[in-house]
Amino acid sequence: MTNKKELAELISQTITEIGAKLEANKVETLFSKPPNPSLGDIAFPTFQLARQLRRSPHLIAKTLQEALFPKISVHPAFTKSVATGPYINVTFDPSYYARQILTLSAQKTAGSQTIGAGKTVVIDYSSPNIAKPFGIGHLRSTAIGHALRNIFETLGYSVIGINHLGDWGTQFGKMMAAYEHWGDDNALKTEPISHLYELYVRFHLAAKTDPELEEQGRIWFKRLEEKDEKALKYWTRFRALSLRQFEQIYARLDIHFDHYWGEAFYNDKLADFVISAKATNVPVMSEGALVIELEGLNPCLLLKSDGATLYSTRDLTAAIYRFEKLNFDQMLYVVGTPQSNHFKQVFTSLDRLGYSWFDRLHHVPFGHIHGISTRKGTLVFLKDILDRGKAQARSALEKRAGFTDQERDEVAEQIAVGAVIFYDLSRNRVKDYDFSWDLMLHGLNPGESGR
Ligand code: ARG
Repeated sequence: MTNKKELAELISQTITEIGAKLEANKVETLFSKPPNPSLGDIAFPTFQLARQLRRSPHLIAKTLQEALFPKISVHPAFTKSVATGPYINVTFDPSYYARQILTLSAQKTAGSQTIGAGKTVVIDYSSPNIAKPFGIGHLRSTAIGHALRNIFETLGYSVIGINHLGDWGTQFGKMMAAYEHWGDDNALKTEPISHLYELYVRFHLAAKTDPELEEQGRIWFKRLEEKDEKALKYWTRFRALSLRQFEQIYARLDIHFDHYWGEAFYNDKLADFVISAKATNVPVMSEGALVIELEGLNPCLLLKSDGATLYSTRDLTAAIYRFEKLNFDQMLYVVGTPQSNHFKQVFTSLDRLGYSWFDRLHHVPFGHIHGISTRKGTLVFLKDILDRGKAQARSALEKRAGFTDQERDEVAEQIAVGAVIFYDLSRNRVKDYDFSWDLMLHGLNPGESGR
């Protein structure tokens, strides 16, 4: 029986005791939410009883409350009940709920089903960019993708998580040019992600007044594509150090991927894809570029006029490779809304190229978090958020006895991780939202005070 039903039973019994009659089912339908959460979690209005008892709802609420109180006070699910005007407001005990949920989730089988047995779902999520920062924007993909993974696993699917790292592209050229100018070996070793981020911001600022920089970036990327030794060395180093730091963050969040198949992973597979695509005669030349023309959409680019491949070439190649290797029943891409058209282009192009399984691919879009940006330098790093959340949880725990120092540390870490993930998952997935420390760390709207 749910606690709501239980409360309805209690109230119904008490109504009988004070000389009226209302079925528990009916009581339940009358429940509403108090206008202000500080009043309680559930409100029961007494208007219905006024006619039966020939008394004012205010008085009924008072009498009912007096008779109800002894039952409420001994019940583990509720902490208090008060008569407020014509209403009785009841407050639930959050720790009782927490215990119920924890017990349920400790039984790993809670809610589990077998509808996915024998089926494979691939989820492409998190997928941060190495020469750009891992910010709270990637947090959304990480949190949503991981939640989907848990849900599909609980439904009996076998789930394969892929991290499509942004580890190739023109931004690496820019990063190398920036590193040549302002790089700091030590900073790269100790804080690779924030150092690369600094370089990223610096490059974009300086490039505004110095167009020569963009050119240098292009040259560096060309060197990388041509497997120039120095360029490859930089690339390997930037990638390895960043990956190590990403993995630390994933470990804190208890998230694991089955494959780190980033964009660079497909480099040696792109040429074959382009050859087989051309053989279908579907792609056409347009202003020197090789494209697939799509109805109602911009054309999907396979090769630029200089022969270079693109993000879309890599996604097409990746989809085919993954299908051949993993034979999935569904594949989900957990990526922000701005890439909706990109995925439409990719899915439709696969259809045009004759891949009948194209309809197994789905884009799971999500809204943007405002208040952070990568170019202006106002970005909030996920690591900083976790650290800040942890510090706050720790200071709250200092006041509590009965913890060893290590326990405080562990609990604070768990609270921070839970707060960050839950903050994201509690939002509407596709709507944009404003980043707020208060909301994330205290569950409060800005300006709202705690209970
Ligand atoms: N690295 C990309 C970004 O941050 C996301 C990649 C998503 N996955 C994919 N297969 N395109 O924008």
